Amino acid sequence: MLHFTASLPYDQRLALCDIRGSIAHVQMLAENKIIAVEEAELIVNGLAGIREEVEDDSFPYDLDFEDIHMNIEKRLTEKIGSVGGKLHTGRSRNDQVALDTHLYLKEEISTIDSLLKRLQETLLDLAELFQDVLIPGYTHLQRAQPVLFSHHLLTYFWMLKRDRERLEGAYKRADLMPLGAGALAGTGFAVDREQVAGKLGFGHLYENSIDAVSDRDYIIEFMSFASLLMMHLSRFCEELIMWSSFEFGFIELDDAHTTGSSMMPQKKNPDLAELIRGKTGRVYGGLISILTVMKGLPLAYNKDMQEDKEGLFDTIDNLKALLPLFAEMLQSMSINKTRLQKAVDDDYLCATDLADFLVRQGLSFRDSHHVVGEMIALCGQQGIRLRELTPLKRSEFHPALAGEISFLLDPVKVVEARRSRGGTAPSAVLEQMKIARGLLS
Ligand code: ARG
Repeated sequence: MLHFTASLPYDQRLALCDIRGSIAHVQMLAENKIIAVEEAELIVNGLAGIREEVEDDSFPYDLDFEDIHMNIEKRLTEKIGSVGGKLHTGRSRNDQVALDTHLYLKEEISTIDSLLKRLQETLLDLAELFQDVLIPGYTHLQRAQPVLFSHHLLTYFWMLKRDRERLEGAYKRADLMPLGAGALAGTGFAVDREQVAGKLGFGHLYENSIDAVSDRDYIIEFMSFASLLMMHLSRFCEELIMWSSFEFGFIELDDAHTTGSSMMPQKKNPDLAELIRGKTGRVYGGLISILTVMKGLPLAYNKDMQEDKEGLFDTIDNLKALLPLFAEMLQSMSINKTRLQKAVDDDYLCATDLADFLVRQGLSFRDSHHVVGEMIALCGQQGIRLRELTPLKRSEFHPALAGEISFLLDPVKVVEARRSRGGTAPSAVLEQMKIARGLLS
């Protein structure tokens, strides 16, 4: 029973947050004359000693004491005697564990946010580096229209911007101070919750003690932020994997981020991108798990809620590991300009522009769409590109096509024409990059 219910194996990592929270609590107790100043000093010193033990890995974790909170309290009384028992005055493990998780998550959110910012910077740097490179844009995974490679990369910049906004929301909800809620109803001791919040750098207090110990929204919000982020990264990984395949050959990932096959000498497997794509599964799993744990739980604390930790910690660990690797993988990849050039030279990609040209000659878009469709059908039959149709042949489709049309079929010109705000023209992308830089500074 003890081993089954213990959380110590994984909540150990809350030790430093637990100690920080306890020090703030005990100082508040003394400042409000709930315990004597000398007692508080003994306890604070004892806790500082325990912090050192945690930091140099000499803390004697003992599974007979269920969780990190009981372990630290037991160690405290070992070190300073029965006065250690005063630490828990006006407090329950229910508000204590909530406090610890809030403190912990707030810190980790800041770390993860800076990793996301770094990834955005990487994307922006690459977008600047590849400003003149074109790539086919796809819909339905069919070549659609040429776009700037920078434009494509920056798509992920904006996804990350929204991810960071969601993370900021999770931070706001983590920035509520639960201590003082006691087991659920508050405490009869004259505690000053604002003082504790001030000492620990919290922006706000929970206004309802039952809510304070029952709430896990901040964890769910973080997990849902993480799930969306992983969804984005998995799409990016999928593209990197495709682009680096023999069939596409648009990019090459650095050897550091690929592996060979133990059997097939020619293989260069994009393991890192694949595994990041794969990690998405467990992050979603963590979200579904905590949502399911919380569903239908009566107020207030229930032991079920101890299940809030492992998925959270696993997600945090994975994000902190994979975000820097992702940035490295992008920085070190090389692009195959020849292959990209060849791919965008496929002038079917400019069919829309040919149709637009006919619209400017007075045709309705439906009619011009039809005309160009017929031209492509003919080219398809003959195995040629649009630019290879003779002026005479073209004029059979529409008299206006008898003249020079090569400018309509030049991907560079086609891209240059898409000057609408947010479009793929170099001038519009430059504007986009300016806005993006501004956001990061
Ligand atoms: N280990 C517990 C958890 O993580 C701490 C809170 C326990 N509270 C209780 N009343 N048993 O949820």
